[in-house]
Parts: sequence; structure tokens; C-alpha cells
Amino acid sequence: MPKLEFRLLTDSLLSDPYSIDEYIKSGGFAALKKTSAMKSEDVISEISKAKLLGRGGAAYPGGKKWEHLLHIKETPKYIVCNADEGEPGTFKDRFIMEKMPFKLLEGIIAAGFVFKAKAGYIYVRGEYRKIQKHLVEAIKSIHKAGFLGANILGTGYDFDIHVISGAGAYVCGENSALLNSTEGKVGRPRIKPPHLAEVGLFLKPTLVNNVESFANIPHILHAGGDAFLEAGHPDSGGTKLICLSGHCKNRGVFEIPLGKVSLRDAIFNGELGGGMANGKKLKFFHLGGQSGPIGGPAQLDTVYSYTDLRKAGLAVGSGAIVIMDESVPILEYLKGVTEFFIHESCGKCVPCREGNRQLLNYLQMLSTPGAATTGDLNTLRSLVRAMTDASFCGLGQTAATALSSAWKLFKSEFEANVRPGGGTL
Ligand SMILES: Cc1cc2nc3c(=O)[nH]c(=O)nc-3n(C[C@H](O)[C@H](O)[C@H](O)COP(=O)(O)O)c2cc1C
Ligand code: SF4
Repeated sequence: MPKLEFRLLTDSLLSDPYSIDEYIKSGGFAALKKTSAMKSEDVISEISKAKLLGRGGAAYPGGKKWEHLLHIKETPKYIVCNADEGEPGTFKDRFIMEKMPFKLLEGIIAAGFVFKAKAGYIYVRGEYRKIQKHLVEAIKSIHKAGFLGANILGTGYDFDIHVISGAGAYVCGENSALLNSTEGKVGRPRIKPPHLAEVGLFLKPTLVNNVESFANIPHILHAGGDAFLEAGHPDSGGTKLICLSGHCKNRGVFEIPLGKVSLRDAIFNGELGGGMANGKKLKFFHLGGQSGPIGGPAQLDTVYSYTDLRKAGLAVGSGAIVIMDESVPILEYLKGVTEFFIHESCGKCVPCREGNRQLLNYLQMLSTPGAATTGDLNTLRSLVRAMTDASFCGLGQTAATALSSAWKLFKSEFEANVRPGGGTL
């Protein structure tokens, strides 16, 4: 494994992350000054060259999203930062907001300049109350330093950023539900199309990006898109913050270069996960949050990049890696995942609202000797397909991803208690 010396986000963290003086001394806002003098097309061209894939989970190409919004003529435009961070096992946006808030804010202001946006909003997870307060303070200090407010840097451009508290629901991290919630409506997903770039916040053209996506913008603009690409994988530049939790020795947020580190390195290398905490063997790892796939030891040599993980049936998702040892029964783990989705389903559509309850029923039957039949297993698999294909938003569409990936790895545990026969439900 290469030495982890190419950190972009976590290099030279400030001794006081909320000191704007320290940030400016360390080179902060140089990228913004550069951006303010550049043509919007040129800024976006650097982001496209960087191949920055959205760090919120869906891995949408940043350059393409920005370009789409640039070509929309309607105004005003809005910039929205998704800091809802509701995905279990994910705490890297919190890390960014606590340890490098100005990088995030500089990225958002740079986006403001590119689109000459009317205002920016950061939708911050409701439980992160302290962070919300600190962000408000940081925004005030940026105002004083002249990088926010009226006539920024003497350019004649006015821009401000508002901090919105999240509603405490996982679904509000879905970008259209997030916009509804920001507008003061119930946080439920909207039908798409129209695309949010066209009909977004207050029904106006809007850019929605994740915290980590925005925090990377100053690096891209400072060093150039080619340098950012070089630091990562040829299909997706830069680094990724991963969140290690569960049964590994070292838990927390770590920065790794995309495409240069394997899952084995991430979990077992002493600079990263450090191996299993309790002398037990690794049984499985759950990638990208509860909505992501589960992998097993045979996949450990997969390179951690969007492309390689996808080819192996895995995913980067939010960057979460939950590590579980051999003591964890897969059906019990999946029951926990499904209970989460039952709790978080917004109830708008039947495949998700009812589907998750039925999934839990089946998991309970499968873990009770003789309660489920081979016919039930077939029905369970049809249910998974129906939920994935027919749910209204990403929550229901991905709620059974963990189950269907685990089925491939631990078929014998699913079948252990099953008796022959037709479906019982
Ligand atoms: C149910 C659900 C919850 C989501 N939660 C988050 C979240 O907490 N934070 C986030 O950035 N993206 C979340 N997303 C993804 C967003 O909808 C969207 O793709 C993302 O904010 C776009 O930013 P990016 O392109 O920079 O990744 C969620 C999606 C779904 C379907
Ligand atoms: S899939 Fe349907 S019920 Fe589930 S969260 Fe989305 S809109 Fe709500």
C-alpha cells in the first residue's frame, strides 16, 4: 500500500478550525479569488477534468451536473449543500464541518460565483446542533473578511449562505425531499423529472451537492483538475473520506486515494482499520451505508474505487465501511437494517412502506426453525425485486440491497431453517 502522503482534505488541519485568520494564512480563499476572475466555463472545465464524482452516495459526475445548470437560462439560481448525513455508519461530513468548515464554505461560495447564484443553503442534520451554531459563526467571520455579503472582493457580486436545520428524517437527505424541507414543507421526495437543476429550490434552477463534494472544490481550483485526477483513479479523481466502524481496531474517518488502496488495506492496514479488534475473523463488511451492498472476505482484494467496486457488485456510496466479525448472524444483522428502513420510510408509496415490513416478517420466519418454506424464499426474492423496481425514491429502491447481496454470500444461513413447501404468506 502506498504511504498515505497524498491527503488533500486532511493535510495540515488547522489548530483552530474556526479561525478565519489561520485559514487565510494557510492559503485559504486563494482558490476563490482565482475563481472570481475566471470564466464560469473554465471553472467547470477544471471540475470536469478532475472527474469529481458526487460524494453523497450516487456518484454523479460533478462537472456534468455543474455544466447542466450553467446552460439553464432561468434565474435566480440557488446553491444547496446536502449536510443531512443520515446514512448509518457515515460521519465524514460531520468531520469536515468540524475540522475544515472554511474549505466547505469556500467551495459553496465558488459555486455561487460560477452560477451568479442568489443564495446558498446548507441543510445540516438536525442532531448536529453544535455544528449548526459553529457554521453560523464561521459564516459571520467570512462576511467580516469580505468573502461573503455585498460586492464580494469588489466584483459587484452579492451572495450569502444560510444554515438550515434538518428535520431528523433519513429521507430528507434525498435531494428533492431536502429541498421541500428547506422550503418549509414536509420532507418527502418529489417526482422527477423535472430535474432539480431546472426546477429545484423554490422551483428555481438549483445545484445540490454533498459536503465532501463542495469541500474538494478549492483543491481542484487551486491545483487544477489534472492534478486532482492524478491523485485518484483514472475514472474518478481525488481522495475519499471513509468511515470505519464496527469490529475493526481503529474506528473513525480516514482519507484514502481512490484507486490506490484495496479493501484489505482499508480494513487491515495499521494506518487505517488496523485489523479485527477482538481476534475473531472478518465475516463481512457493509459498504456505503445501510442502503449499500454487503461484501465478504473473498472480495477483500478489490481496489477501492467507484469502478472496481461496482465491477465486484459493491459500491463506495457514502464512504461507510461497517466491519463485522464471525460472531454476527447475517439474518440478525439484516433485521437491524430492515428495522431502520421501516422506521425511516416516509410512507408515501406502498412498495417501500409495506415492502420493508414484509421483509422483516420474512427475516423473522427465516430465523425461526421450520417457520419458512422454500416457497417463502422465492416470494422474498420477488418482493426484493418489486421494492427495487417500484419504489418511488432511492430509499425504497435500495432498502433491500444489503439483503440481496448477503443472499449471494450466505445462502446457507438463509436456508438453514427452511422446510420444503409452498409460500405461507
Ligand atoms: C434516502 C436518501 C438519503 C440520502 N441522504 C443523503 C445525505 O444524507 N447526504 C448526501 O449528501 N446525499 C444523500 N443522498 C443523495 C442525494 O439525494 C444526492 O444524490 C446528493 O446530495 C447529491 O450530491 P453529490 O452529487 O455531491 O453527491 C440521499 C439519497 C437518498 C435516496
Ligand atoms: S420509497 Fe416511497 S415510502 Fe419510501 S421513502 Fe421513498 S417515497 Fe417514501
